[in-house]
Amino acid sequence: MSITNIMLLIIVTSVTTNSLIPEDARLNFTELSMKYGHSAEEHIVITEDGYILTLFRIPGKKPPVLLLHGLNDCSDTFIIRGNSSLAITLANKGYDTWAGNARGNKYARQHTKLNPDTDLTFWDHSFHEHGYYDLPAIIDYILHATGHETLKSIGHSEGTTDHFVLGSLRPEYNEKIQILIAMGPSAFFKHLTPPLSLIIEMGPLLDQVSRPFKIEELFRDGSLEKNVFEEFCSRNAVFCRELLFQVGGHDPKRLERDFLPILFRHFPTSGSRKGLIHYDQLGLRKRFAKFDYGAAGNLKRYGHTEPPDYNLTQFTMKTALFAGNSDLLCDVKDVGYLRTILPNVVEYHLMESKRWNHYDFVWGNDMPKTLYPHILKLLEKF
Ligand SMILES: *[C@@H]1O[C@H](CO)[C@@H](O)[C@H](O)[C@H]1NC(C)=O
Ligand SMILES: *[C@@H]1O[C@H](CO)[C@@H](O)[C@H](O)[C@H]1NC(C)=O
Ligand SMILES: *[C@@H]1O[C@H](CO)[C@@H](O)[C@H](O)[C@H]1NC(C)=O
Repeated sequence: MSITNIMLLIIVTSVTTNSLIPEDARLNFTELSMKYGHSAEEHIVITEDGYILTLFRIPGKKPPVLLLHGLNDCSDTFIIRGNSSLAITLANKGYDTWAGNARGNKYARQHTKLNPDTDLTFWDHSFHEHGYYDLPAIIDYILHATGHETLKSIGHSEGTTDHFVLGSLRPEYNEKIQILIAMGPSAFFKHLTPPLSLIIEMGPLLDQVSRPFKIEELFRDGSLEKNVFEEFCSRNAVFCRELLFQVGGHDPKRLERDFLPILFRHFPTSGSRKGLIHYDQLGLRKRFAKFDYGAAGNLKRYGHTEPPDYNLTQFTMKTALFAGNSDLLCDVKDVGYLRTILPNVVEYHLMESKRWNHYDFVWGNDMPKTLYPHILKLLEKF
């Protein structure tokens, strides 16, 4: 450990012990569930390629509903709003509520053989592997545990991309999902605007510059960088919120200041560098395609110099698309385009508020009024 690291550590520790942190910032999914009135179970799912994923369940009498999180996020995202969160709302309504975790995040940072701290191959994954390995393992686990033949699924952001990969590459899973409710559906990024479009263009350069440092994991919980980030964002919450807004759209009313200390202790969580790069490629190439390894690498893996598109014609599951007017990541025009591509869109819902951004689908403080009635209606209907 270098001198600067030690100094940072001292600053972090002294500051952390002094600041007042809300209780919910420190609680995990199970503890939050308990606090808001439901005992939760923790299940372990092992994928066919050896990743060990934690799956949370709040048991209920109604059919199973799966919740799947976005990029560098985890199951907590659906419960950190406490009584106003989607997980607690579904549990209160009696749904058998399951919250999944994709490989790499703090609840899924284990493998039967690989060590995430020392084996770089552990981090060789993006939404492709989440969709191809993690999601089917989670779905099969839930169906086996409940005896149901189908489940209903709700995804946010990358949680939707994972589904698009699954349904197009393993079409047999289309029948296991009764309906996918896709919030901030993420497949096409043809309408990105500055600054995001500029960041995307810089992506390959940043990637090249950082590659020699072999940083394959970003935002590891407990790491020094993460602790510094957390502490910085607890103290400069509005500044960090502004960074989020630059990426996903501006809506300070729904993401009020008091909530930020809780949010920034749960988000972001660990994820792979490759996961970010794959999204960068979607933005640059404006296609929903597999990972681009460069001409030679692609030729070896795919038999073509270009990475193949995911074939969304195969994605036949019933899908409800939810879009936000102020969502900079999933522009309304891109969601509209996706709507024309997907074979089985049963509902397209543009959120009523003009300011609805990418995060309001999971963290917006008025979700019980503005979002959940639509979701509950779809869960009843399908
Ligand atoms: C959540 O917290 C409880 C209580 O401290 C602990 O027993 C449990 O192992 C934690 N779960 C996970 C997945 O970290
Ligand atoms: C959550 O809501 C329930 C039912 O309205 C209430 O009894 C409980 O006190 C609330 N919990 C917290 C921690 O606010
Ligand atoms: C995509 O899938 C459809 C339906 O199975 C098939 O007809 C079509 O040929 C596929 N397209 C490509 C490019 O593979």
